Amino acid sequence: MKTYVIYESHTGNTRRMAQAVAEGAREVEGVQVILKRVGEANVEELADAEAIILGAPTRNTKVPAGMSQFLKRMEEVPLRGKLGAAFGSYGWSGEAVGLIRSALTRQGLRVPGAGVRAKRTPDQGALEKCRTLGAGVASRLVEGTAQE
Ligand SMILES: Cc1cc2nc3c(=O)[nH]c(=O)nc-3n(C[C@H](O)[C@H](O)[C@H](O)COP(=O)(O)O)c2cc1C
Repeated sequence: MKTYVIYESHTGNTRRMAQAVAEGAREVEGVQVILKRVGEANVEELADAEAIILGAPTRNTKVPAGMSQFLKRMEEVPLRGKLGAAFGSYGWSGEAVGLIRSALTRQGLRVPGAGVRAKRTPDQGALEKCRTLGAGVASRLVEGTAQE
């Protein structure tokens, strides 16, 4: 079972979160975790993923260009029924996580929970939430609840 963790990050904050999400997911046996920057990822490869976890910082109240274009390209791939989740760092308003979550939901993914947001550099508490997010998604896969 494959889980993708794909992120955009300009100053490393969301990257740290992505690493923690991947770490959490890897704790669950039977789940293969692929961690990629958005520029290295290809939407076609998502077709054989069971879960897709996306992370991006908020820029000008939006999802920045790299991730927003990736979300747009994802519309060409059948992803209905897969499990999704979102995370990201922010400075003051932090819209990106909610926007990613809505985009995933619109594309038919199941997105339980609100995702994880961290203000600026994630502290230990925020990183722990990221690990829990990754582990939670991966556990749902192995428990076979992804299609509920
Ligand atoms: C050009 C620019 C625009 C930003 N706009 C917002 C914003 O609208 N809302 C917000 O909460 N943070 C905003 N931020 C702050 C970033 O989201 C924050 O610094 C975040 O930690 C960056 O994460 P990264 O290191 O993963 O790129 C902005 C930062 C930059 C450089």
